[in-house]
Amino acid sequence: MKRLLALTAAAFISLPLTPAPAIATGTDPAIQSHGTPGAPGAGDPYFPDQGNGGYDAGHYDLSLDYEPSSGRLSGVARISARATQELSRFNLDLVSTLSVRSVTVDGRTASYTQGGSELVVTPARALGAGRGFSVVIRYDGRPVHVVDPDGSVDGWIKTSDGVYNANEPQGAMTWFPGNHHMTDKATHRFTVTVPSTRVAVANGDLVAKVPKGGRTTYVWDSREPMASYLATVSIGKFELADSRIGGYRVTTAVDPKLAGDAAGFPDRHPPVLDYFSSIFGPYPFSSTGGIVDHAPEVGYALETQTRPIYPRVPSESLLAHELAHQWFGDSVTPTLWRDIWLNEGFATYAEWLWADKLGTRTVQAAFDQAYATAAEDEFWQTPTADPGGPENLFHDPVYDRGAMTLHVLRREVGDDAFFAILRAWAGEHKYGNADTAAFIALSERVSGRQLDALFDAWLFKPGKPSL
Ligand code: TRP
Ligand code: ZN
Repeated sequence: MKRLLALTAAAFISLPLTPAPAIATGTDPAIQSHGTPGAPGAGDPYFPDQGNGGYDAGHYDLSLDYEPSSGRLSGVARISARATQELSRFNLDLVSTLSVRSVTVDGRTASYTQGGSELVVTPARALGAGRGFSVVIRYDGRPVHVVDPDGSVDGWIKTSDGVYNANEPQGAMTWFPGNHHMTDKATHRFTVTVPSTRVAVANGDLVAKVPKGGRTTYVWDSREPMASYLATVSIGKFELADSRIGGYRVTTAVDPKLAGDAAGFPDRHPPVLDYFSSIFGPYPFSSTGGIVDHAPEVGYALETQTRPIYPRVPSESLLAHELAHQWFGDSVTPTLWRDIWLNEGFATYAEWLWADKLGTRTVQAAFDQAYATAAEDEFWQTPTADPGGPENLFHDPVYDRGAMTLHVLRREVGDDAFFAILRAWAGEHKYGNADTAAFIALSERVSGRQLDALFDAWLFKPGKPSL
């Protein structure tokens, strides 16, 4: 067990969330306490301003109207939340290039300010600790994507016919206000109006499609809790297909430029999902599918919840990767960005498993190939469980050394214990968050083994571990 890591992570999380002592109210009942401000960030060292303290979001009801020709978005965000401290004011993450026009809290006008990526809301009255409240934010403007510390684009990414909307790690603040750290999951409903020449695709189940006066409103219901970075509202001249295939509701959107290559795309999902369900446990969401856009300038896919987004027709391994993320990343989500290998190492290992199942390459051959990287190579200098900073989030060690770590664990504890560990991880943390220390503890509990040395070498120490 890495107790030190667990403590450090807990300290980062709890520090900014600890409210300052409330103003003394004395004994006079006429003098009311006014609470204290919610923290402006969730305390993640990679993205300190991301997320907010003092409340917990439960549901986002987003009504968005988008005009691709002008790039103008007009939105109403209705957020249900619960105060986790007595709250004098609280923050939401929203870039200031979008203009907030009004804010109400429980139906009363609230005052607000915008600066950087923070919207600060002061309700007319302090919110009591534990109290449920609702916030309504009207806003508009021309959303622009952000550039991440690793140089990739993220958020509301415009394409020739609409928007490629991928939000890992910090793009959500470019198009809707919220508590955007991944530890605050919530259900979502998206009501999106676009010109009828376009389609708007989001997470969850398509519940309505209403054409009216040259525009069409699409309503998507995302009923399982979701982290903001996994939300998507993607827009384009898509071909939309929605059908039941092999027990799954498969909803796909394909850019017509790719229609030929994407023929049969919906049917490719059930076999992969059936296989992963047989080893990881039941598929955690009410629908599946994917968004296949033509976005060569973006270059990366994302495991947007229920419905991954791809910048081209995915290969079999990319499809398996994004579908495996539905268990590892989407249903079970890390607690800090530093623990990103719990997403990428697992999804990469799932690619290896799927290729083995198809007979293309054995898992052992995949491991051997990755392990063959020379000991002097830079690759081995990054420990799996701490890539060092946000600029390295999606670097090879997170993916390949992460997957190798799982294979070494499998060889150490045997297949039965290893697959029991994966199932327990997906089952015990379903719709929640968990960190590396929790994975180590679970591996030791399920296998009944002391695994310090293995995890130390593979997760925490730089250098090529010996076998
Ligand atoms: N999580 C994505 C995947 O592995 C990858 C990803 C998201 C990414 N954002 C990125 C890769 C930015 C490179 C740059 O499927
Ligand atoms: Zn991935």
